[in-house]
Amino acid sequence: MDEHRREVEPPRCRGQVGVEGNPLHVALIMDGNGRWANERGLPRTEGHRAGEVALMDTIAGAIEAGVRYLSVYAFSTENWRRSPTEVRFLMGYSKDVLRRRRDELNRWGVRVRWSGRSPRLWSSVIKELRAAEELTADNDVLDFIMCVNYGGRAELADAAAAIAREARQGRLDPAKVTEKTLARRLYLPDVPDVDLVIRTSGEQRMSNFLPWQAAYAELLFVSDPWPTYGRDKLRRDLEAFGGRQRRFGGAVDALASCETAAGAAREG
Ligand code: IPE
Ligand code: IPE
Ligand code: MG
Repeated sequence: MDEHRREVEPPRCRGQVGVEGNPLHVALIMDGNGRWANERGLPRTEGHRAGEVALMDTIAGAIEAGVRYLSVYAFSTENWRRSPTEVRFLMGYSKDVLRRRRDELNRWGVRVRWSGRSPRLWSSVIKELRAAEELTADNDVLDFIMCVNYGGRAELADAAAAIAREARQGRLDPAKVTEKTLARRLYLPDVPDVDLVIRTSGEQRMSNFLPWQAAYAELLFVSDPWPTYGRDKLRRDLEAFGGRQRRFGGAVDALASCETAAGAAREG
């Protein structure tokens, strides 16, 4: 059996969702497949193949850690700029991975969901995404969101277009447009904001991934190429997230809390 098709150890346990310090929603930019393969004298496509086991192992790790939503960037609206051969490979491979892994994901209690635009996306890929969604619709251990033909600006433009349409039809008052109005018209409006973005391969940019949802996310750029990622590295990265202090625009008065602590110590 080819290495990339190998069985992945199922989640060893199921982490508790909502435990303090635990991100509810992790977004992954799975980057570095091409470079990883080229460094080994292999064609870029072999890097994508090697990413399959990395992905399954990472999903298992997310379940173990009690992550409830995992969004992964599989194909961006900008990735059409790649060579026809690579685009064809990525389309075909997304389809194959979905078909090959959906029963396993279903056994793990994973709900597969698609986020992205349909124009241009291969209809056979949409068909597999829909089939996986249908099969796993009732699962509630982890929402695994596959962003395929996804672009953040496209998503916001689509939401703006929906708002304009509804306003013209008189179903929405333009004076009452708020952040919520827009948030409700995103591709998956029920999914909470991203807490942590992890990008592999050392690049430090967002590349049009979830700009609205990740507005207040913690960002982690790790040097590991995607094919070498998995549950152990995810655990390491979740630990780093645990050490972050999130403020959401608020203020933490370190001085005041020091004084309080000092005062308490004096009084005690
Ligand atoms: C990420 O790896 C996978 C996709 C974008 C589909 P890349 O293919 O971008 O690999 P690098 O960044 O060129 O090494
Ligand atoms: C982002 O990676 C898209 C995916 C991982 C699917 P890219 O490799 O396409 O991003 P850039 O071009 O380096 O910004
Ligand atoms: Mg890349």
